[in-house]
Amino acid sequence: MTTIIIEKIGRAALIRLNRPEALNALNRQVAKELADAAQSFDRDPDIGCIVITGSEKAFAAGADIKEMQPASHREMYGQDWFADWDRFAATRLPTIAAVNGYALGGGCELAMMCDIIVAGETARFGQPEIKLGVMPGMGGTQRLTRLIGKSKAMELCLTGRLMDAQEAERCGLVARIFATAELEAKALEMAQTIAGFSRTIAMMTKETISRAEEVSTVEGVRFERRMFYSMFGLEDQREGMAAYIEKRKPEFPRD
Ligand code: HXC
Repeated sequence: MTTIIIEKIGRAALIRLNRPEALNALNRQVAKELADAAQSFDRDPDIGCIVITGSEKAFAAGADIKEMQPASHREMYGQDWFADWDRFAATRLPTIAAVNGYALGGGCELAMMCDIIVAGETARFGQPEIKLGVMPGMGGTQRLTRLIGKSKAMELCLTGRLMDAQEAERCGLVARIFATAELEAKALEMAQTIAGFSRTIAMMTKETISRAEEVSTVEGVRFERRMFYSMFGLEDQREGMAAYIEKRKPEFPRD
């Protein structure tokens, strides 16, 4: 039994978390299957963007508490329990999390591993791990703090309070809110727009923006400049600019 459902729709890949009996709780199999799928799309020239979604009730209600509860420190550390999430987070194609319902704990952390979060009107985000005697462990303490700032990240992680889609958009976690029933279509539309551009340039843009989370502004701008100059070694730049001048639609290389 697989824990995800994969569809190719035009140049977008849609990955649907599929553990309805556990509100899409993220066990180790989900992590492995998601990372494998994302890596295979990275190598698939027909796909230019990946959308991850769940169900209307839950994007994902967290890491799988029942799987984790009996684990020992030796097992967690020795097997590096969450290593597959690093593989997923290293996806090179742009990724969109389309969040309806609960995105809690590891679910919120998975959404934050994606490049863009779009939410349905009734989505709810939170890091309630403190109620379980632990804290976020899939990047939440770091990514949430960078995305929404220290004070609000502290408040959410220390109280376990959930926030709604509107608050999540106001504080910069969510890029856009759509009607619940339209969320998937809107996310796919966004994915097709991205995938309609040059796949290589989209990957380079993602890599460059992601640098902002890792290095100083001076270093980041230096990296951007080098990446920008390198684009003049690609026919994508020649074609994109020529098409603008000739008032026609560009035809980017399909790598
Ligand atoms: C395992 C889960 C689960 C989870 C829900 N379920 N969340 N199983 N791990 N994280 C299961 C329930 O046990 C139940 O199965 C079924 O899904 C339906 O859930 P209900 O609780 O009956 O639904 P509802 O009453 O609608 O409540 C929804 C909910 C609640 C508010 C989202 O399920 C909830 O609080 N879930 C836990 C949220 C959480 O604490 N997430 C953080 C996890 S820790 P059964 O068989 O019992 O009926 C985490 C750590 C990350 O993510 C850091 C390291 C990875």
